[in-house]
Amino acid sequence: MTTTATLSIRRFDASDSDAVVALWQQAFPEYRDATKPQRNPHLSIANKLATQPELFFVAVLGERVAGTVMGGYDGHRGWLYSLAVDESLRRHGIGSRLVAHVEQALTALRCPKLNLQVLSAKSDVRAFYEALGYRADAVVSFGKRLG
Ligand SMILES: CC(C)(COP(=O)(O)OP(=O)(O)OC[C@H]1O[C@@H](n2cnc3c(N)ncnc32)[C@H](O)[C@@H]1OP(=O)(O)O)[C@@H](O)C(=O)NCCC(=O)NCCS
Repeated sequence: MTTTATLSIRRFDASDSDAVVALWQQAFPEYRDATKPQRNPHLSIANKLATQPELFFVAVLGERVAGTVMGGYDGHRGWLYSLAVDESLRRHGIGSRLVAHVEQALTALRCPKLNLQVLSAKSDVRAFYEALGYRADAVVSFGKRLG
C-alpha cells in the first residue's frame, strides 16, 4: 500500500461478511481456536446486526475490506470492539482512522467516555491505543458468561 488516499469508512453491509470473517480469522487467533466455539465470527456479526448495527464500520480501500471496528453505547459508557486491520495494511493509519470514526459516532450520541479492553499480553496493541491518547484505567475487568 502506498497511500491511504482512497480509504473510506462506511457502515458494515451484509455483503462484507465473508471478507470480514477472513480478516478477523487472520487478526484474532481466538477465532481460529477450536476450543473456543463461543468465538464464532458469523455469530458476532449476526449479534451486532441485531444490536446497534449503525455502530459497525468497515474501512474500505478500493473494493477491499481493509479493517473493521464496532462501537456500542449503553446510555452510560461507550465501548469499542473488534478493531482489526489487514496484516498487510498495518502502520498506515487505518486503525487510527477507524478509532476516530467510532469516537465521532459515539460523541454524536453524547457518549461521555469510551472504554475498551486489551489482552494485557498484547503490548503492541497497548502501544497503539496509548499513541491515540488512551490510558489504562485503574480497574480490574470482571466478566461472567451468561446463558
Ligand atoms: C491494533 C491495530 C488495529 C492497529 O492498526 P494500524 O492500522 O496498524 O494502526 P495505525 O497505523 O493507525 O497506528 C497508529 C500508531 O499506533 C502505534 N502502533 C500501531 N501498531 C503498533 C505496534 N505493532 N507496535 C507499537 N506501536 C504501534 C504507532 O505509534 C502508530 O503510529 P506510527 O505507525 O506512525 O508509528 C492492528 O495492529 C491490528 O489489527 N492488530 C490485530 C488485532 C487486534 O489485536 N486488535 C485490537 C483488539 S483490542
